[in-house]
Amino acid sequence: MLAVRDLTICVGPAAKAVDIVSAVTFSIDKGEVLGLVGESGSGKSLTSLAIMGLLPTPGPRVRAGRIELDGSDVTALQPWQRVEAGAGRLAMIFQEPMTSLNPVLRIGDQIEEAVRVHDGTSGRLARERVRELLDMVRIPDAAVQLAAFPHQLSGGMRQRVMIAIALACRPQVLIADEPTTALDVTIQVQILGLLRELCDRLDMAMLFITHDLGVIAQLVDRVAVMYGGRVVEAADVGELFGAPSHHYTRALMDCMPAPSRQRRLRPIPGQAPRPGTITAGCVFAPRCVAARDVCREASPPQIRISERHEALCAFPLGSGRSP
Ligand SMILES: Nc1ncnc2c1ncn2[C@@H]1O[C@H](COP(=O)(O)OP(=O)(O)OP(=O)(O)O)[C@@H](O)[C@H]1O
Ligand SMILES: [Mg+2]
Repeated sequence: MLAVRDLTICVGPAAKAVDIVSAVTFSIDKGEVLGLVGESGSGKSLTSLAIMGLLPTPGPRVRAGRIELDGSDVTALQPWQRVEAGAGRLAMIFQEPMTSLNPVLRIGDQIEEAVRVHDGTSGRLARERVRELLDMVRIPDAAVQLAAFPHQLSGGMRQRVMIAIALACRPQVLIADEPTTALDVTIQVQILGLLRELCDRLDMAMLFITHDLGVIAQLVDRVAVMYGGRVVEAADVGELFGAPSHHYTRALMDCMPAPSRQRRLRPIPGQAPRPGTITAGCVFAPRCVAARDVCREASPPQIRISERHEALCAFPLGSGRSP
C-alpha cells in the first residue's frame, strides 16, 4: 500500500547539504499497522511529512529515494497533484489537535467542511456523513459536541474529532505522529484501541509514530526502529520484542519501565548524534556497548535475521557474529 525506498532528506544549501534522514526503507501492506519508533530528533516526523508531501519550503527536502502509494510513484508530487493522479489516499493526525483545528469554528462545521471537500456533498447528505464519522470515532452526544468550539472539548475528544476529519477522505493509509503523547494514560489507551479498531474495520493501513515502545507493543503489527535518521532494525512486533537484534533496540528496551522488572532501568550513555556530525561508520557506534573499530570506520551491513527481520549492524545480537 505504502512503500518508502531509500528515502533521504537533507537540509542546507546544495553545496553544504546535510542528510538528516538517510536511506529509510519500509513498506506497509493493506490494513497493516507499522510503528516507527525512535528518540527525539531521529527523523520520524520529517519522514512522515515527506510521505505526505508536506515538507515545509524552504527547508528540508527529499534528496533521493522513492515514495510509492498504491503502486504509483508520488515522490515529487504535491498533495493536490496526488489526488489528480488518482494515487492512494493519505491522511494524517498530529500530537496536538488544537494546532490543526480552527479555534473559532464549531466542531460540526469543521467536520462538515472536510466532508464537503472530499465528497463534494453538502446539506443533508454531508450531515449524514458527519454523523457516520462521529459514530466511527465513538463521539457520544453528537448534537452537543457538534455545536461546541474546540476549546470546550477535552484533549481526548479533540483527538477523536481530528480522527473523524482524517477519515472524511476515506484514507487507505493513516499517518499518526505521536497522536496520544499529550493525553493521560487512560485516554491514551482508548484512542489507541479506537485507531486499531478503525484499521481493522476499514482495512486501513497506519504508520504510527512514537518514541514510546510501550505504545508500540499494544498496537502495531510491525516495527521499524529509527536512530540518527536511519532505520536500524525492522521486524514483526513479536519477534522484535522477543529477540531484538540491534544493540540500540536492546538499549531502548532496557530503559522501558515494567512492573515485573527486578533490575534497575539502564539509561543509554551519551547523546543522540546531531545531524551531520557522524560521517563514517555506524551512527550508533559512539553509544554502543558492542562497538569495535570496524563499526566506527565502515558503514554497517544490512543483515537479514529472518524472512521479515533485518538489522543494520555488523554484530547483531544473538547471531553468533558477536564481536
Ligand atoms: N526545518 C528544519 N530545518 C532544519 N533541521 C530540521 C528541520 N526540521 C527538523 N530538523 C532536524 O531534523 C532532525 C529530525 O527531526 P524530526 O522532527 O523528524 O525528529 P523526530 O524524530 O520527529 O523527533 P521528535 O520525537 O522530537 O518529534 C532533528 O535533528 C531536527 O533538529
Ligand atoms: Mg516528531
